[in-house]
Amino acid sequence: MNKLEQFLNKEVANFAVLYTKLHNFHWYVKGPLFFQLHAKFEELYDEVTEVYDAFAERILMIGGKSVATLKGNLELASIAEATGLETKEDMIKSVIHDFKHIDLELKEGIKLAEDLEDDVTVDLMTTTRASLQKHIWMLSELLK
Ligand SMILES: [Fe+2]
Repeated sequence: MNKLEQFLNKEVANFAVLYTKLHNFHWYVKGPLFFQLHAKFEELYDEVTEVYDAFAERILMIGGKSVATLKGNLELASIAEATGLETKEDMIKSVIHDFKHIDLELKEGIKLAEDLEDDVTVDLMTTTRASLQKHIWMLSELLK
């Protein structure tokens, strides 16, 4: 497996962890913003589901093997699962933290794909970064 495939697998794992984490927040968020945050976390896990699949299928297209077990995801992921103790502020901060973390990792991953002249993977990662950065901005406004 080349460095780009390894890198993309880490992000597949991160999106898998986020999928469960965002469901956790969707189910357990409490308080006066319940309806907004419940819906926002659902919107985010729906989007994460799409990029999770897109990144995994991109690995297959370039001849690699995508991580496809929960155990494998937890081993490869660079973000943490939910603790179950988060307040709604903690939840928002945690999503901002994870999105920023993945955004920075993708910035590095883009360089790997550029070295291989894999412009389609560069495009996938750039599009994903644009979306993550939009959510980071909106969620950060919510905390002010
Ligand atoms: Fe639901």
